[in-house]
Amino acid sequence: MLVAATSVAGAAATAGAAVPFVWSMWPSERARAAGAPVEVDVSRLAPGELLVVEWRGKPVWIIRRSKEMLDSLKAVTPRLTDPESRASVQPEYARNEARSLKPEFMVMEGVCTHLGCSPQLKPADAKAEMGADWLGGFYCPCHGSKFDYAGRVFKGAPAPLNLPVPPHTYLSDAVLLIGEDRKKGA
Ligand code: FES
Repeated sequence: MLVAATSVAGAAATAGAAVPFVWSMWPSERARAAGAPVEVDVSRLAPGELLVVEWRGKPVWIIRRSKEMLDSLKAVTPRLTDPESRASVQPEYARNEARSLKPEFMVMEGVCTHLGCSPQLKPADAKAEMGADWLGGFYCPCHGSKFDYAGRVFKGAPAPLNLPVPPHTYLSDAVLLIGEDRKKGA
């Protein structure tokens, strides 16, 4: 029943502070093994927080993007391999700049498209480590691929494609369903 969340804003401001946790709905073991959709209450996510849930054995990240995070997406576009996600994997409704149904919430698989490592969250203030032009996103420590807050990969990375976006929809303002596409007319 427990999933971990970490705060970009919090991590940025208070390195070493306790990592907050967020509770979420979770399917039974049997349903999970069968690949059942996962319902997640996103209402308690603060701007900048990242929530990790498991779906089909993979970590799925849900990040509530702040305005600064959303603004960074446009700024980094010229530096990306597949900025319009033409070759990358996502549902058609997530093939947009924010790669999401709702710009505020990004849902993506936390699995590097190079060799499958799990990238790490690197907020904008990690410039000493990531470079002076770093505006925040994710870094894969295995071979150095960098991704923005929409999971779009930067040029020069060994990862060929953006992080995949799983099918998902919203059952209400508060409840996200991972594993099923948007219903018709929704
Ligand atoms: S697995 Fe991520 S860069 Fe190689």
